[in-house]
Amino acid sequence: MRRKLVAGNWKMHGNHKANAELLDGISGARPFGCDVAVCVPFPYLSEVAVALAGSDVRWGAQDCSQHEQGAYTGEVSAGMLHEFGCRYVIVGHSERRQYHAESDQLVADKAKAALGKGITPIVCVGETLAQREAGETEAVVKRQLSAVIHTLAHCAGEMVVAYEPVWAIGTGKVATPEQAQAVHAVLRAQLRAATPRADQMTLLYGGSVKPDNAAVLFAQPDIDGGLIGGAALKAADFVAICRAAG
Ligand code: G3P
Repeated sequence: MRRKLVAGNWKMHGNHKANAELLDGISGARPFGCDVAVCVPFPYLSEVAVALAGSDVRWGAQDCSQHEQGAYTGEVSAGMLHEFGCRYVIVGHSERRQYHAESDQLVADKAKAALGKGITPIVCVGETLAQREAGETEAVVKRQLSAVIHTLAHCAGEMVVAYEPVWAIGTGKVATPEQAQAVHAVLRAQLRAATPRADQMTLLYGGSVKPDNAAVLFAQPDIDGGLIGGAALKAADFVAICRAAG
């Protein structure tokens, strides 16, 4: 039985006051029956590390450079994230693939850079509504994951994969448990063909996860938790989702 993970993706939200209140609400609800993490904007990593120090709530970032260091203005390396105690980093979120033209190979290279510094990449894959309606969902997510599998083939450490249907992100249109499980089963099968540890790997669902739909999603055989956006910004909702995971 895989231990579930619930990771909050704060996206570009937060301020010192709201962060302190949110983190107090999460810390005050411990212990959790699942692994819990918050992935926060870079400027807040230091205060989050202080607030969560000594707790079992982990933290991470929402992107990292594929480069080790150098003249890459504005980028943040995995080594820098490691210095801030990051346990996770989200890579390939659909918003970065869309707004920053991140290719499948760039996402794979970012995941490799993260693993190189002992940080677990949460690799996001997912199809657009047009791709789903065209019957391309399986081909899209397998193509996205394939680049990562091949690039990480000889890397130590393990990634987390997050299936986030683009049409469910921030829309309130959550995938049905059947829709989500069907894609997770495809991803699990693809991982089984690549590694003997596929059944121990964590596959998260993301896209309009809320307290009222989390439990039925997390009950699916290949859904090992969630990557949470909007609901991660409200302590009561995020805690309720964590309770649904374990
Ligand atoms: O990375 C998680 C995020 O994309 C999901 O957002 O607001 O639909 O939970 P939301």
